[in-house]
Amino acid sequence: MAEIVIRDSGERIRGEEQVRAFLDRQEVLYEHWDAAKLPAELQEKFTLSDDDKAQILSTFDSEIRDLAGRRGYRTWDIIALSDATPNLDELLKKFEQVHTHTEDEVRAITAGKGIFIIKGSEEVGYFNVELEAGDVISVPENKPHFFTLMDNRQIVAVRLFIETEGWIAHPFADPAFSKA
Ligand SMILES: [Fe+2]
Repeated sequence: MAEIVIRDSGERIRGEEQVRAFLDRQEVLYEHWDAAKLPAELQEKFTLSDDDKAQILSTFDSEIRDLAGRRGYRTWDIIALSDATPNLDELLKKFEQVHTHTEDEVRAITAGKGIFIIKGSEEVGYFNVELEAGDVISVPENKPHFFTLMDNRQIVAVRLFIETEGWIAHPFADPAFSKA
């Protein structure tokens, strides 16, 4: 289940209802899939063959098609990151910059963990959304954010797109953002 950390105050928000209510107010979509549907060996596998990816997509086919039908996504794929990923540190450096997109960024975590850092409303400021397997999030278009891994540095996620070109990152220079 996702947890929230408000970066300025350090306040942590736990519990499905509280997390959902907070994300609702920040206009971030949050849903949950049953990650246990995935065969056990794929719940802990972060270097995936094409067959593994196809199996993950078919396991969650009804969830993917339901979400796509409601929100207009037309294509989807699987992304897997771990220490086995070539240039992982370089990739993370690129990811860890505040940016926006012209379409929403939706991720359904199927294994591992990750964090979205999102610019919230004026009174909230930046907040972390810590995600684990089963968590589904959509960061709205034009909302400044970035993504990074957690200490275990392992994640598998389904990405869904309306137009793949809509997901190009536009840097968002924000003096209000502080990394620490
Ligand atoms: Fe992004």
